Amino acid sequence: MTSSLEGKVALVTGAARGIGAATVAWLHARGVAVVAADLRPDVADLPFPGLATVVGDVSREDTAIRSVETAVERFGGLDILVANAGRSVNKPITQTTAADWDELLAVNARGVFLHAREAFRVMSEHGGGSIVTVGSFACTVGLPDASAYSASKGALAQLTKVLALEGGPHGIRANVVAPGVVETDLLDTFRPDSREYLRSFGSAHPLGRVAQPAEIAEVIGFLASPAAAFVTGAVVAADGGYTAA
Ligand code: NAI
Repeated sequence: MTSSLEGKVALVTGAARGIGAATVAWLHARGVAVVAADLRPDVADLPFPGLATVVGDVSREDTAIRSVETAVERFGGLDILVANAGRSVNKPITQTTAADWDELLAVNARGVFLHAREAFRVMSEHGGGSIVTVGSFACTVGLPDASAYSASKGALAQLTKVLALEGGPHGIRANVVAPGVVETDLLDTFRPDSREYLRSFGSAHPLGRVAQPAEIAEVIGFLASPAAAFVTGAVVAADGGYTAA
């Protein structure tokens, strides 16, 4: 398949599963050279020929540096960053610990900052690029029992707007994709019934269902591509209408 993305280079964080893995598949199908990064070593098992992989924690500075360096060394540059890795904790505020708060802000906000900063440095020296951060409907509305998560996604959205402002003169676009509930493994670590629980949110979306990861990857891919050449600084809802009310 030929596309306007053919030959571009992308880094996708949180690539082993869910929305990240679907985004790798979308980009790879369009001829993009992809660095797939994740905490999970099985990111190396993704079935896409020519993929480069990095294993590391996105909240660590050395991981961000190593991931961007991998793109430059293996593929000669970096055109697209999809800052997708994220974690969730669902607890009432009275049960949310300082450690929960620190972890979510570290992964969902600090990790995005570190990767965006490293990507920005390379993109600004090579004529620009596109940064897509994966937020949430919690970028714009508060989610009950998700104080740390909502705060981290609010921070991600504000950071992305600043990336758009600072990036414009360098040809760097930056946008947030803000999904509604997506059927992934996100809640697996603390909810044995995570899939049923996620699906139960379907009726909260005007479209009457939750999303599949590939539907979010389509929106990420659009924002990453030249088709979105005049879109920057936007928080693009992909939430089945959840935040329309
Ligand atoms: P997932 O749990 O299926 O995948 C997340 C991936 O990120 C996993 O492969 C995980 O190993 C990786 N990851 C987690 N912490 C990491 C760290 N510290 N360093 C490196 N990699 C790490 O989750 P999903 O649903 O695909 O989530 C992707 C993004 O979408 C997240 O930012 C999440 O907040 C966001 N999102 C998800 C929604 C949902 O309902 N599933 C709704 C709205 C936003």
